[in-house]
Amino acid sequence: MTTTRIEQIRQTLGQEIWIEGWLYNKRSSGGIQFLQVRDGSGIIQGVVTKKNEKNFLLAERLTQESSIRVKGIAKEDPRSPTGYELSIQEIELVHLAEEYPITPKDHGTGFLMDNRHLWMRSSKQVPVLRIRHEVMQAIRDYFNEHGFIATESPILTGVSVEGTTTLFGVDYFGEKAFLSQSGQLYLEATAMALGRVYWIGPTFRAEQSKTRKHLTEFWMAEAEVAYFDHEDNLRLQEDLVKYIIGRVIQNKLPDLKALDRDISKLEKIIAESFARVTYKQAIDLLNEKGMGKSWGDDFGAPDEEAISDHFKKPVFIEKFPAVMKAFYMEPDPENQELVKAADLIAPEGYGEIIGGSERISNKELLLKKLEEHKLPREPYEWYIDLRKYGSVPHAGFGMGVERTVAWITGVTHLRECIPFPRQLHRLTP
Ligand code: 4AD
Ligand code: MG
Repeated sequence: MTTTRIEQIRQTLGQEIWIEGWLYNKRSSGGIQFLQVRDGSGIIQGVVTKKNEKNFLLAERLTQESSIRVKGIAKEDPRSPTGYELSIQEIELVHLAEEYPITPKDHGTGFLMDNRHLWMRSSKQVPVLRIRHEVMQAIRDYFNEHGFIATESPILTGVSVEGTTTLFGVDYFGEKAFLSQSGQLYLEATAMALGRVYWIGPTFRAEQSKTRKHLTEFWMAEAEVAYFDHEDNLRLQEDLVKYIIGRVIQNKLPDLKALDRDISKLEKIIAESFARVTYKQAIDLLNEKGMGKSWGDDFGAPDEEAISDHFKKPVFIEKFPAVMKAFYMEPDPENQELVKAADLIAPEGYGEIIGGSERISNKELLLKKLEEHKLPREPYEWYIDLRKYGSVPHAGFGMGVERTVAWITGVTHLRECIPFPRQLHRLTP
């Protein structure tokens, strides 16, 4: 028996097909039952009439999320919520589901999160995970097409990349180890071997913050390029972001529509160049808006939102004070107090989706920065080596996958942008 995936239904109109899936919802009207069948690729409305009594009685017994195979003929139907309708000739029951805890009525977030393993089947969650897949695949394809080598960084590590306050400690056979905050330091080594590299991997931050933009485990897409400077770095990021959005529009339009995403806002991102401000200009702008910012202040969610509202497009904030940022960033030759780093702020209040910088390539300067940041030299000895043997200017960045997915899908909370979110008080399911 060959089956058709619902997303391919258009190619099979008028033919007899089988669909393997689950009963999402059903209603009846007169002598007709409407079964909404989902298979992970989409939802289609199936129609069962009293003419076939066996089917009709079975349809009546079906509970929400029962697994079924259905045979029928699909046709276009503008009245159907999904655009197509399947006139069902046969139903095979695979498993009659027990009473399903998640019904189409409203549930509280805590309840839905406790049932994440089931909640992910619902009509708003499936499209998000499908778009997440497209984002991941687009990143891989983009880098692959641009001569980058896919590589990997370890998760168990002895070094801190982004400061010591958000490290998860692990006992490593009696030695202290950490879960990786970012693969960057390792990517720098790999870039010196392979030229241009990327990876998409899990990263961990012991963030005590309980916001809609923070997870304790999230996925980062990171790139590192030898002989790249700050300008090259920003160009690459802009090109990548536009490519990802283009791919999602091209391949996942039905999913964007299922989420009621305003597609024109995404199309606009591709058509225009991103805005660019220095940290100083951003501070001035926020002060003009009465947000009371001082030099050295970090940007919180309301600040990022004000900046993105002002430009209504992605904004690079660059040239941060060195004291605010990680130890490895290259100083700005015009002002040694600043670093050649940039954060990319997404529009519509989604906040920082990329952090990147040119890296220090001079050994003495790196040693000085490690000391200033009170980091021990010993675990970084291998990283210092990269500045001893054929050191070159290089730059790279890390993109938060969940934040990017949240922005593209229009979903407000990161917890819906990863199958099983890890947060301050959330370790199950
Ligand atoms: O800005 P971050 O901390 O940069 C780095 O880790 C660099 N070492 C990356 C590099 O240059 N290779 O993190 C990068 C991105 C952020 O812009 C944000 O999108 C995301 O990772 N991110 C988080 N996403 C979800 N939850 C958190 N707690 C996050 N922290 C950072
Ligand atoms: Mg950052």
